[in-house]
Amino acid sequence: MENIRPIIVLDFGSQYTQLIARRIREMHVYSVIVPCHLPFDDLAGMNPQAIILSGGPSSVYDPASPTCDDRVFQMKVPMLGICYGFQLMAYKLGGKVERAERREYGFAQLEISPPSQIFSGLESPLRVWNSHGDHVAEVPPGFRVTGRTENAISAIENPEAGMYAVEFHPEVRHTASGAEILRRFVEGVCGAAPNWYPRSFVDEAVERVRREVGDERALCALSGGVDSAVAATLVSRAIGDRLLCVFVNNGLLRKNEFEEVTAALRSQAHLNVRAVDRSERFLTRLAGVVDPERKRKIIGEEFIRVFEEEARSSGHPAFLVQGTLYPDVIESVSVKGPAATIKSHHNVGGLPPDLKFRLLEPLRELFKDEVREVGRALGLSEEMVGRQPFPGPGLAVRILGEITKERIRVVQDADAIVEQEIRGAGLYNELWQSFAILLPVSSVGVMGDARTYATTIALRAVTSDDGMTADWAKIPPAVFERISTRIVNEVREVNRVVYDITSKPPGTIEWE
Ligand code: XMP
Repeated sequence: MENIRPIIVLDFGSQYTQLIARRIREMHVYSVIVPCHLPFDDLAGMNPQAIILSGGPSSVYDPASPTCDDRVFQMKVPMLGICYGFQLMAYKLGGKVERAERREYGFAQLEISPPSQIFSGLESPLRVWNSHGDHVAEVPPGFRVTGRTENAISAIENPEAGMYAVEFHPEVRHTASGAEILRRFVEGVCGAAPNWYPRSFVDEAVERVRREVGDERALCALSGGVDSAVAATLVSRAIGDRLLCVFVNNGLLRKNEFEEVTAALRSQAHLNVRAVDRSERFLTRLAGVVDPERKRKIIGEEFIRVFEEEARSSGHPAFLVQGTLYPDVIESVSVKGPAATIKSHHNVGGLPPDLKFRLLEPLRELFKDEVREVGRALGLSEEMVGRQPFPGPGLAVRILGEITKERIRVVQDADAIVEQEIRGAGLYNELWQSFAILLPVSSVGVMGDARTYATTIALRAVTSDDGMTADWAKIPPAVFERISTRIVNEVREVNRVVYDITSKPPGTIEWE
């Protein structure tokens, strides 16, 4: 991305920081989040075309509050302050910030005072989403007030200096025309050109990987999910067969998944896949285990062992490809310190020290939906790129109680029916996840003229943006009916199907 100048979001710890970058990228303009304490030279070295100061939970007068280098305000690039960013801009440039007598949380009416570049053409009053305890009492020299709510100055600007600030959150959907306000800043004020497209990302990422890997080789653990498939495909575009992909069957994948995913990645992406079936090993170690955390630990340890064997037997490539995404890298509260973290739930975490890899994470700048776009641009099928997330420990955390081959088959069969019917109803892509859970509960039923005493399948279907919070999906009754009838008719061991109507929080998406 060397020749594309980013719009940098300086993160002061708001829960909404990620959304700012997202909204800008939805306009096909490249945006990255960096912690507010990033050294100034590093920030300047990124050659930003604009700076956005995010919100944050602190008060500018608190000595421990996050701040940024004063030189940020002299960079002569357009700036937009949001919430805490607004207060910080006002404070740093000679205005006055006070603790508000009435804090504003939730909706407020914004009265716009034209002329204003970032509100031009928008209706007034505008319903905006607020979340602040302090407010700006006096604007800094050179600025004028362009918007007020009942309680506070809510927007200021100094067009000559290219500086704009708002007290409310334009990045959240609750703010009417919020995306339009950001668009007026990004396109109008900054004049940013739309040049952030999956196609251009692919070309540049391939080039970058090629340079970085040189003549070395790389190894990638496929999980069957979208992220590792796209990361591997991208790297294989760059280095061809010098990338070896290992796909481990732990015996806990979905029905036919091992064979289907292997075949799909070989044919669609021409990946060099070594498919290793180690299900017996995993299942032997899991025999009799019912505690969810113990299941996770065993699967994690065994995975590392298998991966280690494969790495050694392939002459230990220098690079390890990981499908780490942007939200995995950036924690919103990065004001606490650099937020780079590595996904630990797969393989790198527990590898022996002599098995050192250099990490290749070609997707670390992308959000999930962007990864899907990149997957499409790389020629992966809709079925592959649209796959719902699946946990690393697989069906082990969807089989409550003991894991046996028979119980795996029951949940696989039920799960395959759920997937077919959800796809058939055109709901698959709308749902974050939809799946079956096998409960350790038997109950009485009647089939034909006979009494049954058999097991229970729970259905889980949720909508979510990122898996952090989720709501149970309002599935049409006719779809429930088909799923339940088919499961009870086709999966002999099951005589009852129930639906989980718990959101997250307080529930989790998986049952274990
Ligand atoms: P929970 O159940 O915590 O899940 O609400 C949130 C998201 O994470 C997935 N998940 C996992 N993924 N290893 C993984 O790779 C795990 O141990 C694991 N546990 C949950 C889950 O499917 C959902 O998308």
